[in-house]
Amino acid sequence: MLTEQEIAKLRARFPILRRKIYLYSCSQGALSDAVEMGMRAYLDSWFELATPWDTWMEMYEAARAVFARFIGARPDEVAILTSASAGINAIASCFLFTERKKVVMGEFEFPTMGHIWLAQRPRGAEIEWVPPREGRIPVESYERAIDMRTLIVPLTHLSFLNGFRSDVRGITRIAHERGAFVFLDDFQDCGTRPVDVKALGVDFFVTGTLKYLLGPPGLAFLYVREDLIESLVPTVTSWFAQRNVFAFDTKLFDPAPSARRFEGGSPPIPLLYAAVPGLELLSGLGMSNIAAQIEKLAHAFLEGACQLGIESKTPLDSIGPLVVLRSHDASRLVARLAERNIVTSSRHDGVRFAFHVYNDLADVEAVLLALQENLDLMVRRRSRV
Ligand SMILES: Cc1ncc(COP(=O)(O)O)c(C=O)c1O
Repeated sequence: MLTEQEIAKLRARFPILRRKIYLYSCSQGALSDAVEMGMRAYLDSWFELATPWDTWMEMYEAARAVFARFIGARPDEVAILTSASAGINAIASCFLFTERKKVVMGEFEFPTMGHIWLAQRPRGAEIEWVPPREGRIPVESYERAIDMRTLIVPLTHLSFLNGFRSDVRGITRIAHERGAFVFLDDFQDCGTRPVDVKALGVDFFVTGTLKYLLGPPGLAFLYVREDLIESLVPTVTSWFAQRNVFAFDTKLFDPAPSARRFEGGSPPIPLLYAAVPGLELLSGLGMSNIAAQIEKLAHAFLEGACQLGIESKTPLDSIGPLVVLRSHDASRLVARLAERNIVTSSRHDGVRFAFHVYNDLADVEAVLLALQENLDLMVRRRSRV
């Protein structure tokens, strides 16, 4: 657990925290001095080097290795992409939907996950939605939907709508028993706690760098389980996906034996320079310490919201990072909070409060006070706790 002094020292590395109560990490993480320096290092390299691509290719492989270590994978299992959508599309393009056609998806998935699998319907995919019950999608609901015809279960680790946390291991066990793949979308959680893709057992894993990984937009990582890679041949491809990138053989399609086979064209080099220091900053703090700080803040905030009688869309036993409260006019509340320098976001009738390791209990108190003074916009619980 990090001490208050350590948190204060960390906060000083994020200039925006001097001006704002920043609860926006579910959309975009705050900029640190480390990530800013990474961006500058990229500019310096371009300024200094006459032929920078040799150095940039080293950076590209170094970033792959850093991310692989971050999630407990091997570098060969990681593809570097410009969005999570690009990774999901690359995998979807590998399937023919002949014997197994079913895609079982919870209604808490991020829209892009729905859109990409729905787009496979003309190619034979059949989508089955798993509905939530009282803000949760329990394992049993997946158990009813997944059968021997299921090809894949796309699964958001944490819902962007209400912060509900999926039981990844439970769902993966059922999917695997029935011969289906699991594609974990960790975008709303990666960076908030230790990740071990091997222990989770998932087949595919994707995340981008811009939220809790403290990095820039325009960069994402895809993990594909080693033993699956060579059996999957994407039709969404590029020259950087080939075995020998610099063979320059236009007439040969020869996908790399590693997860690089799922990549698009030239990698987003400036973003890799920026993302690596963010990953290193997090690892240096200790991922369990980060999880503990976030859990402390989420608990304090949920308890305070309950005491104010505000209805939470997030299950009350949540460990964070995202807490969503129900509002009569969520975008108006976001604007009112912004007037008090509190940065939040809204989705439908929910106002989203995203906690990261750089937040502290003073942030929680300030937001609760602001909510108390804006109760007219909040949906109230029928019975108070
Ligand atoms: C859970 C989740 N998945 C996917 C995405 C979309 O990622 P991208 O724009 O990189 O495709 C987001 C973006 O907010 C997200 O929150």
